[in-house]
Amino acid sequence: MSTVKLKNIYKSFGETEVLFDINLEINDKEFVVFVGPSGCGKTTLLRIISGLEEVTSGSVIIDDKDVSNAPPVERGISMVFQSYALYPHLSVFENIAFPLRVAKVNEKELEEKVFKAADILQLTDRLDFKPGQLSGGQRQRVAIGRSIVRDPKVFLFDEPLSNLDAALRGDMRVELAKLHQNLNTTMIYVTHDQIEAMTMADKIVVLRDGVIEQVGSPMDLYHNPKTKFVAGFIGHPNMNFLKTNATKINKGKFSANIGDSEMNMPIDAGDTKSGDDIEIGIRPEDLEVSDKGGVPMRVDVVEHIGATVILYGSVLDNDNFCAVLPSDSTIKPGDKINITIDPNKCHAFNSSGQSLQRS
Ligand SMILES: Nc1ncnc2c1ncn2[C@@H]1O[C@H](COP(=O)(O)OP(=O)(O)O)[C@@H](O)[C@H]1O
Ligand SMILES: [Mg+2]
Repeated sequence: MSTVKLKNIYKSFGETEVLFDINLEINDKEFVVFVGPSGCGKTTLLRIISGLEEVTSGSVIIDDKDVSNAPPVERGISMVFQSYALYPHLSVFENIAFPLRVAKVNEKELEEKVFKAADILQLTDRLDFKPGQLSGGQRQRVAIGRSIVRDPKVFLFDEPLSNLDAALRGDMRVELAKLHQNLNTTMIYVTHDQIEAMTMADKIVVLRDGVIEQVGSPMDLYHNPKTKFVAGFIGHPNMNFLKTNATKINKGKFSANIGDSEMNMPIDAGDTKSGDDIEIGIRPEDLEVSDKGGVPMRVDVVEHIGATVILYGSVLDNDNFCAVLPSDSTIKPGDKINITIDPNKCHAFNSSGQSLQRS
């Protein structure tokens, strides 16, 4: 069993406060992804879990044991970095074996472990190569192999795919998902890339400016973002936002003008009063072209990506509005079209960016 609990963690570097009251429970065998923009504190939090960084206050608990003051070697954790940090003069075999040599593991056990890791990572026929003779993806797998042989209770990954080209990143996402199934071990994975988070995670932790913004499964965050930030960060292309205000409140729900039409929203008004600023959120994939009525859109750019067509243009106050349509669409740049915004698919946010709940 390997669980990780973070309790009331704060971290400052001198005067700079980086993490604020982080509370999180990571279950046994879970694949958890920390996602957020650059500088939000992901690496710092991962280093705190590994023991490479000390907390300013709060505790790190692994398998019900408080390890807040324990050195990295006593935590049973292994970390894979973005820079692979391989030894260029050593073979793949010796790179993977390195932590076992340091731990003075006997030769037979060492070989067994290295061969097993190489087998899982499909590196068996590369064991005599030097890192310089490998592709980026293979080098990353060697770095992961060096982690696997240590049999850690928890694997930590810090943006391990950032140095790879897009196609290879896609392949490696699948490889890492398989690795998680094979090893059946708790994994914590850091990325700024929401697609990596959506595709790999059992549980996503969205961080923003050192605070946990929301925790949930990928589809939970997609369907029920608690804030405008999460709504705009999760999902690709990004959610569209339109500024408006509540025109009236009726039976706890609000209405709002979108273009020329007043729409009754199936969304709880909460503390919102008539006249208050509201932002409506609608995902590009939830839009349709309308034959009559709807909201006007001026189309600037059309991207045919095969299965779908992505339109970019202006709708009301939003000049970066995006709609995803079926591939048979014949809409061209410069076209003026009308789109249907379905209130049942809309999200809404108050002026402090909190989501109003759909019901
Ligand atoms: N050793 C350090 N000394 C001072 N500030 C640091 C140090 N490490 C990180 N920071 C600051 O902490 C914040 C979070 O950094 P980091 O955890 O690396 O973010 P992320 O991994 O999400 O990009 C940044 O503002 C960064 O400049
Ligand atoms: Mg980082």
